[in-house]
Amino acid sequence: MPENLPAPQAVDSPITGSAIFIVATLGAGNEHAATVRAWCADVAGLVRAVGKRVPDGNLSCICGFASDAWDRLFGGPRPASLHPFREFGEGHRRAVATPGDVLLHIRADRMDLCFELAAQLMHGLGGAVSVVDEVHGFRYFDMRSIIGFVDGTENPAGDDAVRFTIVGDEDSPFAGGSYVLVQKYLHDMAAWNDLTVEAQERIIGRSKLSDIELDEAAKPSWSHSALTTLVEDGEEVKILRDNMPFGQPGKGEFGTFFIGYARTPAPIEQMLENMFVGRPPGNYDKLLDFSRAVTGSLFFVPSADMLEALAGREPDARAVAAQPVGSMGS
Ligand code: HEM
Repeated sequence: MPENLPAPQAVDSPITGSAIFIVATLGAGNEHAATVRAWCADVAGLVRAVGKRVPDGNLSCICGFASDAWDRLFGGPRPASLHPFREFGEGHRRAVATPGDVLLHIRADRMDLCFELAAQLMHGLGGAVSVVDEVHGFRYFDMRSIIGFVDGTENPAGDDAVRFTIVGDEDSPFAGGSYVLVQKYLHDMAAWNDLTVEAQERIIGRSKLSDIELDEAAKPSWSHSALTTLVEDGEEVKILRDNMPFGQPGKGEFGTFFIGYARTPAPIEQMLENMFVGRPPGNYDKLLDFSRAVTGSLFFVPSADMLEALAGREPDARAVAAQPVGSMGS
């Protein structure tokens, strides 16, 4: 970690067995904004209190705030690259933008830890927010996504994870922060399982059993791996993913909760453009023939110190009053 960088929230948390993702919208009215602001100072204490009950349970929580919510809750200054989630693609292949002001990404090795922390955090928020999506994710065999391929292999680790995910001097008031994009995907498992393993491998760009990348000659330009590999000035630009499978087999629901952290939203958005529109346009990610994005939101994750300090911030009342009504509460 570079010296003098404010401590980030637990962006680079160890891989855990369980996670809860909660996306909520902020209620209209100053009293609700005040509740959420005050709650920001309580988050770290709640993580400590619940985490202490199982010291090696790796409990962590990340709180993120979407663009309009940032203005309502905290006013200016605002993170340089924070904007509402932009949609990509069209028709059946569309990365949709859905409502969401606050994100909680709770991780632990045991679901009881995640569950207890989620309950405590939601108790603190009370009626100030309405939950629009809550997903309980589980680790599936040897880190496999629900479609049977190992997920997360090419994630950056150690110093690289920090370099690719944590804001530095480029936006010094927000150093130690991060950007996070979430999308909930549902898969057509019957159609996916009708493919041969070789066809699935060409779509992902890796072998299913061994998780080894296909040779360049065998890997199609429309594979997931090819389209999400970004190279700038000869260097690969990475993001940090901690996707989780979820679902309800009894209802035929099989999903992937995608979560990607980066130092600016740009690389994640470029990957979405490559996947949904195609690189070049039309050469899209064939994983999307079997997977549909049903949610999508972008958030800024302030550093751990800033999260606590935000409790004392009051947005400029005139600036908030001047906001268009449509930007409030979504
Ligand atoms: C339908 C949901 C998704 C599933 C099931 C999925 C699954 C996978 C799998 C199995 C891999 C190969 C192993 C690995 O390196 O992790 C992979 C790689 C990757 N995925 Fe996804 N993914 C999904 C959505 C996304 C989205 C929306 C993005 C970005 C916006 C993304 C970005 C990446 C990146 C950057 C890699 C590594 C590519 C490389 O360096 O080879 N994925 N994904």
